[in-house]
Amino acid sequence: MSDDTQVKLELDDIQRGVLSPRPTPYAATYILFRIDDRDHGRELMRRVSAVVTSAADTVSPLGETWVSVALTYHGLKALGVRQEWLDTFAWEFRQGMAARAGALGDVGESAPENWEPPLGTPDVHVVLVALAPDSARLEAAVDRARPAYEALTGVTAIWRQNCHALPTETEPFGYRDGISHPAVEGSGTAGSNPLETPLKAGEFVLGHPDELGGVQTPQPDVLGRNGTYVVFRKLHQRVALFRRYLRDNSTGPEDEELLAAKIMGRWRSGAPLALSPLHDDPGLGADRTRNNAFLFERDDPTGFTTPGGCHIRRGNPRDAAVAGVPRLHRMIRRGTAYGPPLPEGVLEDDGADRGLMFAFVGTHLGRQFEFVQSEWMNDGVFFGAGDAKDPVLGSHDGSGDFTVPRRPVRRRLAALPRFVVTRGGEYCFMPGLTALRWLGDLSD
Ligand code: HEM
Repeated sequence: MSDDTQVKLELDDIQRGVLSPRPTPYAATYILFRIDDRDHGRELMRRVSAVVTSAADTVSPLGETWVSVALTYHGLKALGVRQEWLDTFAWEFRQGMAARAGALGDVGESAPENWEPPLGTPDVHVVLVALAPDSARLEAAVDRARPAYEALTGVTAIWRQNCHALPTETEPFGYRDGISHPAVEGSGTAGSNPLETPLKAGEFVLGHPDELGGVQTPQPDVLGRNGTYVVFRKLHQRVALFRRYLRDNSTGPEDEELLAAKIMGRWRSGAPLALSPLHDDPGLGADRTRNNAFLFERDDPTGFTTPGGCHIRRGNPRDAAVAGVPRLHRMIRRGTAYGPPLPEGVLEDDGADRGLMFAFVGTHLGRQFEFVQSEWMNDGVFFGAGDAKDPVLGSHDGSGDFTVPRRPVRRRLAALPRFVVTRGGEYCFMPGLTALRWLGDLSD
């Protein structure tokens, strides 16, 4: 559906990382900073604001490198943002991701006490993400930037994670990712589903009306307006275990691929079951004009084609009859793989750390990210499947199952292990460009 509304967002004030799709392929890096000296922290904001690109710019001030910056609650505090203002930020943001572990299913081996330090600790203040067409150009850019932040002795880089998007756009389990995106009113960026009405800008950009007519703006206005919340999670993927599980539960290679598709709702090529129910269709999978043009309710209300419990139908039930209103739980996702890919066909774990740096963008941490993670991914009540969890992402303990509706009898996968383990993450606020400069100019 085209964006024919009169809403015009102030694109030159919104960080590019919020609304604009990333290029493909690319290399990216997450660098986390701790601020020990408030003035140095503010100087970092000034320096960064000069290189962050807005959603209106097609050219980055750093050439082929694109930079985004976000802050945690502790980061805003370290810069000296007044408590009365901090109190106007979303409750979940103020708590931080580690404190929300129970609600998010981050238990057992995914629990914060097992996270990779310093993730989930009050030391994480600033999150900087840089993107370039390849790792050589990315490293060159980081090398150029290093003296600028190393000269600030009161600011320390405390963690770094490199990641990449392959030309095939596949995530470590082997599926094409980065397909489905909502359209946002006034953003000028088309959504990927022509059958979805664009969402109100306030679902993704603070300071604008959202789907319920409300306007969320953390205070003061100059700080909150045109910002958004960003969630990032380092999710370790057990690729060998996933492959073995498919192999052990299928009757042969063709069945294995069908099972993989039933679990995800898409074939590995990205072709949706909804449009290609019986076999993969790589042409469809790669075609951005067709690979997300579908709904569920009219043709497949009971999930015979796309199971109600598969990953994409849980993540976005579209028009399917579920408890709740799917439009209130949409999100912009920016997943990027990390670690070396496990070579094709290998079924034994090689001990390498690989997975997804999952990123969420949206203005409602509670009703968007946390709701999807807890009610849709880690529960099945919303579509009548009891406590069944997402087969890919669910916090399984080996006793869960997954049902593939089928005639004459359904197919049931049992003893699902945990394929994805949380290594850590943070809730962040990504300010607008004016707000970044304002943070840089703060005084006591
Ligand atoms: C390692 C973990 C994950 C893997 C391997 C994974 C994989 C995928 C893949 C392959 C797709 C289909 C491609 C696309 O539409 O872009 C997808 C879609 C999606 N995922 Fe995930 N994902 C992961 C984590 C998450 C998390 C943590 C969430 C949210 C809590 C999430 C929510 C979604 C949503 C909302 C969609 C789009 C559904 C649609 O609109 O059709 N995913 N994911």
